[in-house]
Amino acid sequence: MKVGSTLRDNMGDVRNDRQIAPAILFLCLGNICRSPLAEGAARAAFADAGLAATIDSAGTGDWHVGRPPDPRAQAEPRRHGVDISGLRARQLTRADFYNFDLILAADDSNLRDALMLRPADATATLKLMLDMVPGRTGHSVTDPYYGADDGFAETWSDVSAVATALVADSTGSSG
Ligand code: 4NP
Repeated sequence: MKVGSTLRDNMGDVRNDRQIAPAILFLCLGNICRSPLAEGAARAAFADAGLAATIDSAGTGDWHVGRPPDPRAQAEPRRHGVDISGLRARQLTRADFYNFDLILAADDSNLRDALMLRPADATATLKLMLDMVPGRTGHSVTDPYYGADDGFAETWSDVSAVATALVADSTGSSG
């Protein structure tokens, strides 16, 4: 099972020499383009660094629930050796605001929609994905869904920068 709560219960207190495993949820609109790309980039970056983390993604909308990532979104990470074909879209829930430490939204619209769902006593921190990247605070990850295929390369580049920054934060090696 890949639902955040179960993984969080199992991994919330995982420690190694350098870190406490963070639980991070990436959020976009459909959960078939930007947030699964971010999930794939982050899973790869934490695994490459040998670090434990709970990483998941979700959409604010429910149109694509149960579906795999868009074929264009699968193709871009495959070029970089990352396979996201097994991911399946799900919708953001109120429980996510307790099960994750950090919820990272792709754009302002996703952030606003998440704020409307957020329980008053939520424990998760809610931010934009690019708030993690020095020099890009407040910027959105552009939605490639309606654009040309090369938009997916830009999205992959953006979410890879986010993943690198998260690993750096996790090891205390940033700044
Ligand atoms: P995502 O992209 O939010 O990055 O997954 C989209 C996917 C689907 C739709 C919009 C954006 N849609 O309207 O179906």
